[in-house]
Amino acid sequence: MKKVLGIIALSLVGLVLVFVLYINLSWDKTYDAPYPEITISTDSTIIAHGKHLVYGAAHCASCHVPSDKLADVEAGKDVLLSGGWQFHIPPGTLRALNLTPDPETGIGKLTDAEIARTMRYAVGSDGRPIFPLMPFQNMSDDDVAAIISFLRSQEPVAHKVERTEYSFLGKAILTFGLIKPEGPTGTPPVSVTKDSTVEYGKYLANSVANCAGCHTNRDLMTGAFIGPRFAGGMNMPPEEASQGYGFITPNLTPHETGVLAKWNEDAFLKRFKSGRLVATSPMPWASFSRMDDIELKAIYRYLKSLEPVENPIPKTVFAPGEAIPE
Ligand code: HEC
Ligand code: HEC
Repeated sequence: MKKVLGIIALSLVGLVLVFVLYINLSWDKTYDAPYPEITISTDSTIIAHGKHLVYGAAHCASCHVPSDKLADVEAGKDVLLSGGWQFHIPPGTLRALNLTPDPETGIGKLTDAEIARTMRYAVGSDGRPIFPLMPFQNMSDDDVAAIISFLRSQEPVAHKVERTEYSFLGKAILTFGLIKPEGPTGTPPVSVTKDSTVEYGKYLANSVANCAGCHTNRDLMTGAFIGPRFAGGMNMPPEEASQGYGFITPNLTPHETGVLAKWNEDAFLKRFKSGRLVATSPMPWASFSRMDDIELKAIYRYLKSLEPVENPIPKTVFAPGEAIPE
């Protein structure tokens, strides 16, 4: 009997070892995706528009800066995008790269098409799948071009950022293709007219500012959307960057259980211009406070036009140690 148990135990250990070996050999997959045709420019109006998006609605500057410069970003300074911010989540430590034109450590060695492909297909220049933190797949050709035009115009900063490191869990997720590159949902627009309309608000909230990415309930392992869009309820567990605070995102649909019920358009604009009220909130309030009236009105009008969804979220901020409801 002892012998049989011994053999079973040994085979189990063997199976686990084979599984671990399999994951360690298979996770580092590369994917192919088309290279978008994007023409960048040195025109100062286009560069200024790119900068406005990078530091505002598209909030690249909330991630692609050194962690010790985040306070300067909060203070509204134009911090150079030399990378370094890290994001510790169970699948690993994700590191935002240097986006200044330095040839060794930055985007100097990447082509415009490679950068545009990362934004549109979530594929790194080396073909690795990128975790869904940058949902710019449906951004217009003109906005992608303006952003890259601005990135190229920055002063180069030599600052090496180590590669993203995956935990065993992260490697398993990659091995089984639970995270893989995703392209646009249709043909992205060539250009979108900037105006305080529902249409422009829809574009900003879904394809540029990622409001939907946080204000929709999602599976925390794979990022899959599991609740009605914009109805809130995504659970953001405590982590290092939030100093142990946890969050559940509020409902942004125009239902009485949503936060918009208490604000008219003016109050909404004021709320965004006053920036962050919760010190550790993951929402990039500093970047969003740089959006202009046209952008903010467009977003407000779009949110107001959504189907109201009943989803009461009684509490959105949880102090360290406080239990967060499932
Ligand atoms: C929420 C944080 C976040 C935001 C916002 C963000 N990024 Fe990133 N970005 C990252 C992280 C993290 C990585 C590294 C991902 C990895 O290595 O898997 C990255 C990687 C990249 C890469 C490198 C691809 C490669 O070839 O290795 C480019 C280019 C990039 N981001 C551009 C942008 C631009 C442009 C914006 C704004 C329009 C932006 N990012 C906004 C977090 C962010
Ligand atoms: C990275 C995640 C993230 C993104 C992106 C994000 N939010 Fe939030 N949002 C949160 C969290 C978490 C809270 C609750 C904590 C707080 O109030 O800061 C919140 C709170 C809010 C509130 C309530 C603020 C208050 O004072 O009660 C509004 C309104 C809001 N978000 C709108 C938006 C809009 C519009 C966008 C896109 C332009 C957006 N959010 C993008 C995570 C996010």
